Amino acid sequence: MTRRSSSQKFHHRWKRKPLAMLLICFCLATFVLMESQCSRIKMPTFISRPFIQKPKIAFLFIARNRIPLDMVWDAFFRGDSENIFSVYVHSRPGFLLNSAMTRSAYFSNRQVNESVQVDWGEASMIQAERILLRNALMDHYNERFLFLSDSCIPLYNFSYTYDYIMSASTSFVDSFADTKEGRYNPNMHPVIPVENWRKGSQWAVLTRKHAEIVVQDDTVYPTFERHCKKKSLPEFWRDHPLPADGSKEHNCIPDEHYVQTLLAVS
Ligand SMILES: *[C@@H]1O[C@H](CO)[C@@H](O)[C@H](O)[C@H]1NC(C)=O
Ligand SMILES: *[C@@H]1O[C@H](CO)[C@@H](O)[C@H](O)[C@H]1NC(C)=O
Repeated sequence: MTRRSSSQKFHHRWKRKPLAMLLICFCLATFVLMESQCSRIKMPTFISRPFIQKPKIAFLFIARNRIPLDMVWDAFFRGDSENIFSVYVHSRPGFLLNSAMTRSAYFSNRQVNESVQVDWGEASMIQAERILLRNALMDHYNERFLFLSDSCIPLYNFSYTYDYIMSASTSFVDSFADTKEGRYNPNMHPVIPVENWRKGSQWAVLTRKHAEIVVQDDTVYPTFERHCKKKSLPEFWRDHPLPADGSKEHNCIPDEHYVQTLLAVS
């Protein structure tokens, strides 16, 4: 731990414990006046054991609107988890996730402000991920960044999940070379060389270092926006005209390639 962060942590504790601070001031004043009395006043134990903020996990929800399973998460967060996690929700613009829209205090007012309209399978999904990471990185205690959809549920209890995620010093990102014809667009070269083209699940856990790489990326993301589009499916042909030559379209599935490819490129 650095000197700076330890003093920050100490400050943090001071802010949260005005009562404890009052107690100490009282004791110091009394000490001058009545030395013998003061020795009997029990000093708060945190003076000898400075408060150490444990690293937090940021739960990043990509939701359409509200979180339908908020009460399942509420039960998960309740308990020993105090102050070692944070919640951020990306919902569509115009929707307000306030206390009327959720039965769980953990989600109330946890919506990020500058949300975008997400079209499933489009680059806007990546943008939502980047907005969530940007917000979560502002809290310096967030050490792991966990992407979740509005239909995810926890399978284990909080302490098991916390220990499991924190015990690994690296991100949980599955990744394999995606050689499937038509997904890699040669126009992405040279920003994305074909040997760095990777696929995996969108639902990953990133370390702080990797989260920073994603937020700071200003080359790979624009390349995805430009050259990686969803292939129009028959059910959407009414809305989007059928391309003249469907084989020329690249069905990139940006959300399942972006983080993996970016980390490979970096
Ligand atoms: C979002 O905007 C509201 C109202 O302007 C503000 O109080 C809140 O702090 C903002 N949230 C974040 C995460 O910046
Ligand atoms: C949490 O889950 C783990 C693994 O299933 C279990 O060993 C542990 O006892 C559970 N802890 C609590 C507090 O329920």
